[in-house]
Amino acid sequence: MNTSSTLGIPSTGTAPRHVAIIMDGNGRWATRRHLPRKAGHVRGVDAVRNVVQACGEAGVEYLTLFAFSSENWRRPPEEVSLLMRLFMQAIEREIGKLEEQGVRLRIVGDITAFEPRLQRLIRDAELRTAGNDRMHLTVAANYGGRWDVLNAMRALLRSEPHLASAPEAIDEARLAPYLSLAFAPEPDLLIRTGGEQRISNFAIWQLAYTELYFTERYWPDFGASALAEAFAWYGGRERRFGRTSAQLVQDPMTLLAQGG
Ligand code: IPE
Ligand code: IPE
Ligand code: MG
Repeated sequence: MNTSSTLGIPSTGTAPRHVAIIMDGNGRWATRRHLPRKAGHVRGVDAVRNVVQACGEAGVEYLTLFAFSSENWRRPPEEVSLLMRLFMQAIEREIGKLEEQGVRLRIVGDITAFEPRLQRLIRDAELRTAGNDRMHLTVAANYGGRWDVLNAMRALLRSEPHLASAPEAIDEARLAPYLSLAFAPEPDLLIRTGGEQRISNFAIWQLAYTELYFTERYWPDFGASALAEAFAWYGGRERRFGRTSAQLVQDPMTLLAQGG
């Protein structure tokens, strides 16, 4: 019996279809060099540009970047406002190129907390690239995995209020369309730079069966060759989704026909 909506087995032999990244280590990158943390965040934006480019070249279809968590408001106010400024600048500077290159930009997270100018910029950027589908670039900003699940549950109950009195009718497939990454397949590979081995309230629902790759490298030092290393590691993984190794040699279509 299937209790999970995660059914298919994506091949690990090719570039992952959906890559999610927790971009961590900007501050430590700077501190190591006796620079202010700001310098690390500025270099972090350069790394984003390089990695977007490299993912496009590798044929990645969905790239989701964790840029600002719902917990990052706890940082000193000067750092929070610097991050907001850099975010605005990056959208302003890059949107033309993204539009040209066929990239569709989306921002996921509770953007109502941002100042109106940033909210407008986000909406305009999303609109400008809405017709693109060469690569889906998603930036998670003021995003939290728990927020996402709660928000989805609220939206589901708002649109189908009768479910409040029939909670057993709520299953994964019914909730999933309301999650903020509903447009994308589940991430195949999660990369976290900066040495920490935790999820930090990123996409907790969507990462259920994602391959997790942790590297000591700080985000500003992460580029095309580091990405290739991560993809090579991914290529060596065997994704089983609860099954045994022996089952995987069967034709995947047979597995699906058997109900996963
Ligand atoms: C990641 O780098 C950027 C954001 C979370 C916005 P950090 O700023 O967390 O860098 P470290 O972890 O302090 O080195
Ligand atoms: C996670 O990094 C959030 C982002 C990269 C946006 P943090 O540096 O905020 O995570 P913790 O606090 O070390 O878990
Ligand atoms: Mg950090």
